[in-house]
Amino acid sequence: MVEMIDHIGIAVRSLEERIPFYRDVLGLGEPEIETVADQKVRTAVFFVGADTDRGGRLELLEATDPESPIAKYIEKNGEGIHHIALRTPDLEGAIAGVLDGELRMIDEKPRGGAGGAEIAFVHPKSTGGVLLEFCRR
Ligand code: CO
Repeated sequence: MVEMIDHIGIAVRSLEERIPFYRDVLGLGEPEIETVADQKVRTAVFFVGADTDRGGRLELLEATDPESPIAKYIEKNGEGIHHIALRTPDLEGAIAGVLDGELRMIDEKPRGGAGGAEIAFVHPKSTGGVLLEFCRR
């Protein structure tokens, strides 16, 4: 059901402030920058090992609004790892599996994420504190 780790989401106060570390110090190249209005975030996606398609992605997330979940996360926890995304071709099946296990989804239906992906978040109360995202590309 789960194919691979698609990306790791990292909450940052400022993309401009954090991009140079990933781009220049780690040498990951220019990120794809996108605003996901629905989630009130701006994202910068770095492709790790892009030439091999085995390395996955790092997704930096900056709030575009004080009401953004990322703004609230940073207020509470500071900057850092926000979520782990697992890629699955069967998003509906993955959601159904969680609900059938009487666990909680934040999104019971897929919605739009960065890079044209369809995503759904599992509630961290159902995963021992990890915000998990299912992701279909
Ligand atoms: Co994500």
